[in-house]
Formats: sequence, structure tokens, C-alpha cells
Amino acid sequence: MTNDDWSKLVDTSDEWITTRTGIKERHFAAPGQAASDLVKIAAEKALEDAGIDKDEIDVIIVGTVNADNNYPSTGNWVQKKMGMKPVPSFDISAACSSFLYGLILGDSLIKSGAAKTVLVSSAEIMSQIIDWEDRNTCVLFGDGAGSAVLRESDGEEGILSSCWGADGNLGDLLVQPAGGSAMPPTEETLARKLHTVHMKGNEVFKHAVLRMQEASMKAMELANLSSEDIDLFIPHQANLRIIDATIRRAKIPLEKTYITVDKIANMSGATIPVSLDMARREGRIKEGTTVLTSAFGAGFTWGGLVIQF
Ligand SMILES: CC(C)(COP(=O)(O)OP(=O)(O)OC[C@H]1O[C@@H](n2cnc3c(N)ncnc32)[C@H](O)[C@@H]1OP(=O)(O)O)[C@@H](O)C(=O)NCCC(=O)NCCS
Repeated sequence: MTNDDWSKLVDTSDEWITTRTGIKERHFAAPGQAASDLVKIAAEKALEDAGIDKDEIDVIIVGTVNADNNYPSTGNWVQKKMGMKPVPSFDISAACSSFLYGLILGDSLIKSGAAKTVLVSSAEIMSQIIDWEDRNTCVLFGDGAGSAVLRESDGEEGILSSCWGADGNLGDLLVQPAGGSAMPPTEETLARKLHTVHMKGNEVFKHAVLRMQEASMKAMELANLSSEDIDLFIPHQANLRIIDATIRRAKIPLEKTYITVDKIANMSGATIPVSLDMARREGRIKEGTTVLTSAFGAGFTWGGLVIQF
């Protein structure tokens, strides 16, 4: 769906969206597709790419803000739809940071010996939870899913460092107010569209820059690396201006920064795995490439990792 498509539905323009956000187009799931359906597509491709059979997976982690149901978890539906073994399956709710949270958790499970092979995915169907009449938010998001298969490495490669954090005091700045136990769905909440994304964009913007910069710098520091040692930076892609401000503060060159926001918009937690896959397919990530990634999202939550491929 292009910016011009949106301009037929709300009072906006390609010019406004492009200059304020860098977004040109986004993709939406088909009617009837649930988060688990998107994970299934991504996970099957990831398993094939890794040359690993689904029966070798011993933990399934899914990050999402729009789970199939409040319960069972999307991870459980993925297990069923993919015909997987009855291994532990669960969801992570960390919004745009959920894939990085999943990587950090999966890495810890492997390092502790609790798991050998972990499937980490994120799937988001933002098109179902945006207010299609609110130009302030509707143009910013896209749908998608990405998956990674994690396994112990015997060489130098792998997750070299990670950091994560959250500040629940700022939860109200980006929230889906209704639909949970704090505000169960009623006719009134539906009429007032309280089941959609509510965001104070300007405030979120400032915190996003600060936390993405901090997480990026912390992850590099923990890996004993500087931005000169990083081959590719894959930031969460909410807004090109957030990315610009982050790289300027963290002193990461633009040439090393991988931008996908123009093509996929903000796919919340799915942004980073999809961007990682796009970078691999374009040859920007090869064996030996050192990738820095960082994210920020509702909660607020944030995280950063350095990954040696
Ligand atoms: C949402 C965001 C793009 C808005 O950009 P901004 O430069 O801060 O713009 P403002 O909020 O100051 O709004 C400026 C004007 O544009 C208008 N506007 C908002 N959306 C618009 C749209 N799609 N098209 C045209 N005009 C729009 C506003 O109504 C406002 O008009 P007004 O001055 O008459 O009230 C920006 O704040 C942002 O990206 N924030 C982070 C949001 C985010 O990515 N969250 C997820 C984090 S993971």
C-alpha cells in the first residue's frame, strides 16, 4: 500500500509522509491471516535456509503486539500449524523490541544448556489495530513476520553482546488502551476506537532516539567494539528521522546503516528480522559480517545486540 493509496483514505500526502517519516510503502496481511499464519511462512523459510528440520526445534518464541488470541499463545498456534513437537511455546510482549528480546532469551537458553535449537519469530498485523481514520498513526505501520533459528556455534560467530531495558512509567505514551483486563472490550471502547494504537508521536520520537543511541553504544561497548568495527547497523525502522538522529549521536556512518523503512514502514517487532533477511539476500550480510542492531518500542522497551555472522 503506497502513500498515494493512503492519501485517498485520509487527509495526507506522499510528500508529508516521505519528508516526516521516510516511508513510501508498506505491506498488509490478507484478510483472515493471523499472526501465526505469518510466522508459519517465515519460520518454514528460516528452517529451510538453515537446513534444520522442524523436529529439531526445542523452544518456540514469538514476539507480537497482535497475538492470535490472548491465550493460547501465538507460539502454540505456530506449533500446531507447523505440526511441531510439543515443545515449550510462548509469546513475548515487548512491542518493537520483541524480536531482540526473543534473541536475547533464546541465546540465554542455549548458553545455559536449557535448549539446543530455538525458533525466534516476530509477526505483526498492525493493519488490524490501527485507526484507519487517524492520519497521525495509520500511515506509519506495516504488517509482516520474520524468523530466525538459533543454535550453539562452535566458532567465533554468534551473539557477541546484548543489552535490554524497559521503562513502564512511560507506557501511556504508546498504548492500545482497550481489549485487555485494564479495559475489557465493550461497545463503548469499540465506538471510541480504544482498541487501536494511541500514541504521542513527538514524545515517543525523543525517547526512541535516546534509547536506540544508548542501546547501540552499550552493545558495542559490551562487545569491546567501536562503530569502526561494525560492518552493518540494522536499527528498528520507525522513522528515518529517528534513525538519522540515532546514527549521528552514536557516530555510526550512514553508509553502514541499512534502511528498509521506505519499503516496509514500521512493522513493530517484525521489522528487524525482515530487515536482517533483506540485508542477507542483498549480500550486505555474509559470513564474517559484524552486525549491530537496536530497537525501541512501546512499554517503553529497548534492546541492542552485536551479532557476528
Ligand atoms: C508521528 C510523527 C511522524 C509525526 O511527525 P512530527 O514531525 O512530530 O509531526 P507533528 O506531530 O508535529 O504533527 C505536525 C502536523 O502534521 C499533521 N499530521 C500528522 N500526521 C499527518 C499525516 N499523515 N499527513 C499529513 N499531516 C499529518 C498533524 O496533524 C500536525 O498538524 P497540526 O500542526 O495542524 O496539528 C513523528 O512524531 C514520529 O515518527 N514519532 C515516532 C512515532 C513512532 O515511530 N512510534 C513507534 C515507535 S516504535
